[in-house]
Amino acid sequence: MSLLLLSLMLLLMLTSTCHCAGLEVNGPTQRISGIRKGDSCVCQVNSTIWAFPVRKYETVLNELQTCEGSLKNLEEQLDISIQQFPQFETWLANLTTRVQPFQYLHQRGLYTALTLRRLDEELGQLETDIGAVHSQLNSANTHKLSTEMSKLRDDVTRMKMSDTMNMRSVREKLRYLKNSVESSKTIPKDFRGEHSQCYKGLITNISEPVTTMVSPSGKALVSGSWGKQAQENSKEQKNSYWVLPLVSSNIYGNFLRVYPSYEDFLTIKNAKQFIFAPSPTDPKASEGPGAVLYGDALYYHCYRSADICRYDLNTNIVKRATLPGTRVGYNNRFPYCYYECEANSDVDVEADETGLWAIYSTVGNHGNIVVSRLEWDSQTETLNVTQTWETRIFKKAVTNAFMACGVLYATRFVDDNHEEVFYAFDTASSKEDNSLVLPMEKLGKAVSSLSYNPTDKQLYMYNAGYLLAFKTSYRGVVWNP
Ligand SMILES: *[C@@H]1O[C@H](CO)[C@@H](O)[C@H](O)[C@H]1NC(C)=O
Ligand SMILES: *[C@@H]1O[C@H](CO)[C@@H](O)[C@H](O)[C@H]1NC(C)=O
Ligand SMILES: *[C@@H]1O[C@H](CO)[C@@H](O)[C@H](O)[C@H]1NC(C)=O
Ligand SMILES: *[C@@H]1O[C@H](CO)[C@@H](O)[C@H](O)[C@H]1NC(C)=O
Repeated sequence: MSLLLLSLMLLLMLTSTCHCAGLEVNGPTQRISGIRKGDSCVCQVNSTIWAFPVRKYETVLNELQTCEGSLKNLEEQLDISIQQFPQFETWLANLTTRVQPFQYLHQRGLYTALTLRRLDEELGQLETDIGAVHSQLNSANTHKLSTEMSKLRDDVTRMKMSDTMNMRSVREKLRYLKNSVESSKTIPKDFRGEHSQCYKGLITNISEPVTTMVSPSGKALVSGSWGKQAQENSKEQKNSYWVLPLVSSNIYGNFLRVYPSYEDFLTIKNAKQFIFAPSPTDPKASEGPGAVLYGDALYYHCYRSADICRYDLNTNIVKRATLPGTRVGYNNRFPYCYYECEANSDVDVEADETGLWAIYSTVGNHGNIVVSRLEWDSQTETLNVTQTWETRIFKKAVTNAFMACGVLYATRFVDDNHEEVFYAFDTASSKEDNSLVLPMEKLGKAVSSLSYNPTDKQLYMYNAGYLLAFKTSYRGVVWNP
């Protein structure tokens, strides 16, 4: 990496007039003036001059590697004196620690050999993944994936040779292929067979609220999450209802209240309190609304981290797993927003017929929603992340999201009393639909959390201190457990 970076920086020097390092270097091809920022040189580069083949810097690199003669050449080329050369060397030696100019160029969309190399690495990984899935399944679908993979490989090879780089379309193809591989991985898991509980197609209607009550912790605690036990065959917590209010600035939580039945919940009786962290700012505390009670454990976003925590209600043990992706958003980097941002709602844990999910975002996916499947391995007692999909919906452009039958649904603000499901992404097919119109009523502006429950197919909303539940239906069929 440092060699490539060096070559990039060298090229910048070759082709730029720059006072940054106390040097004035006139390149033979272009003049670019630099601005000193801190101890680095930021160059205003007109991107059209970057439409050059990678070959050009490879030449420079070769020259550097073949020493003597090329050093002489370089001197002539750069028109710098012997006295200036040691300075130049020092500058080169320090380049690896001075990546600012590179990052600046990178952010401006000036794609470099480095970007290409990363793309190559990602392609390599994808080839391995597709190869593995194909040899396992060997279906028409995986065959199609392999074919598309080789096409993309050809495109990238061509791109490396030519002067124009349509990086955006390649990235989009790469994202599509990655998602398709993840979707293929779902097939052997009897997803469709085992979950005959799922209707075909998307949710078609959402009822008016069937439960409406003030949070037992009071309306002052405006943020949190609540719901019904989400695992079908759980033992201890079979019919439990639970509430997790966020206490510290309405952002962090450290206790959970569980009611053994719906009647107990409605009358606020027989609550059992579980303290899963000694304080709301403990590493084991929960950050943001978005927890779920699944079986005998509470799953939530762990305090100021890219981790999901699993708190075992029987043993009080907290286990964690780190979410995959380049720079996972937390600490209010990618909260749910749309109309008003819901503080620190960066990572949302959900449950559906197929298991557990995390909805979040990464810098790597440009702030768009990423969905990962979570699995608790009771044999090894580890929380694993098994699959990951990257969507194209910007996380800060939705009010909230939930999973139902392996489909991600996202909502947007309509007005203070209405919300609307408008987007769906199906992890089984990697297809998306942003034309849904499923209205939902609410009592206040803010929707802290919205979760689907696979045992009763209802949606649970923590809404400005109120707790609401809604029935969902598929093509007019309302689920009656
Ligand atoms: C960049 O260079 C092209 C071609 O030399 C020129 O047409 C264009 O105006 C330049 N853009 C800027 C912002 O200088
Ligand atoms: C170059 O790096 C060395 C060690 O990292 C540091 O002491 C020195 O100040 C740097 N020089 C410049 C000009 O940045
Ligand atoms: C859909 O839900 C709304 C409430 O949000 C209800 O008024 C309407 O009757 C439902 N439509 C169907 C076809 O079930
Ligand atoms: C979960 O991860 C552990 C540790 O990496 C591994 O031993 C185990 O097989 C994984 N389980 C599943 C179901 O992937």
